[in-house]
Amino acid sequence: MSVTPVRSFPDTSWAEHDHTSGATRAVEPVLEGGAVLAFPQLPFVLSDAEKRFLDPRWADGKAKNISLRWPSGEMRGAAGEAQDLADLKAMITRYAEQSEAFALRLFPHYRGHLKRGNTSFRPVDVAGRETSWRKDDTRLHVDAFPSNPMHGTRLLRVFSNVNPNGRPREWRVGEPFEAHAQRYLPKIGKPVPGAAWLMEKTGITKRRRTEYDHVMLQLHDLSKADTETQRTGPQADANFAPGTTWVVYSDQVLHAAMGGQHMMEQTFYLEPQHLQQPETSPLRVLERLMGRSLR
Ligand code: SIN
Ligand code: FE
Repeated sequence: MSVTPVRSFPDTSWAEHDHTSGATRAVEPVLEGGAVLAFPQLPFVLSDAEKRFLDPRWADGKAKNISLRWPSGEMRGAAGEAQDLADLKAMITRYAEQSEAFALRLFPHYRGHLKRGNTSFRPVDVAGRETSWRKDDTRLHVDAFPSNPMHGTRLLRVFSNVNPNGRPREWRVGEPFEAHAQRYLPKIGKPVPGAAWLMEKTGITKRRRTEYDHVMLQLHDLSKADTETQRTGPQADANFAPGTTWVVYSDQVLHAAMGGQHMMEQTFYLEPQHLQQPETSPLRVLERLMGRSLR
């Protein structure tokens, strides 16, 4: 039984033009092949003043994350005085910029196509975060969102552990995407006729849920509900120590967050035709396995 690999790289700098720090370049095939890319010597550095933000009290209590939306740069989920909020926003913005420059160095093939999504700061402990089995990210899953149909667009994420007390971000990773899909596809039926139209019409979804989105949501839910495979299926622990940055296609890599506190995260979107190997995308893998178009 094979499990998602975690590949480590020696980079010590986020910067684009740095040939002295083990700068990794052009690793699209490793990422697209379904690995987690880990950079154990690439911390996101906070100033002494910014260390005050390593406290869950800055989260407003409604959201589990503090996030910036782009292109507006609007911040959501934070509570505090105006000056503190401005400083917090500057910190998260710096993460967006550093992780974007880094992603374009790692994946030059994506230049001009990678779209910046939300940037988040997660000061809340993973423990006690889940509210229902479907939202419980301590269960292995691929990312898929009920209200936000992706139509096959890739979800590339750059995470960095900024915990000040030596606590790792404790993840598990599961089997490769194709094996995961094969495990559950026999249980996935066709969408109910008219349901996608109705959900779009009533605003339950932001746009039309395609059959691709239907299958991805089913994979997410069937995996989280399958307590036996969660317990005994192919998997490995992956602990990311403070100072570690890691990069993953979270719509492809089966992952679970078991513990940890204080993390940065940047989401990028990429249309699957701009992959170096488009046939590795979940859309193309599912279309091949199911023998028809899912668009
Ligand atoms: C997730 O994407 O499932 C959670 C990642 C994390 O909070 O470490
Ligand atoms: Fe996830």
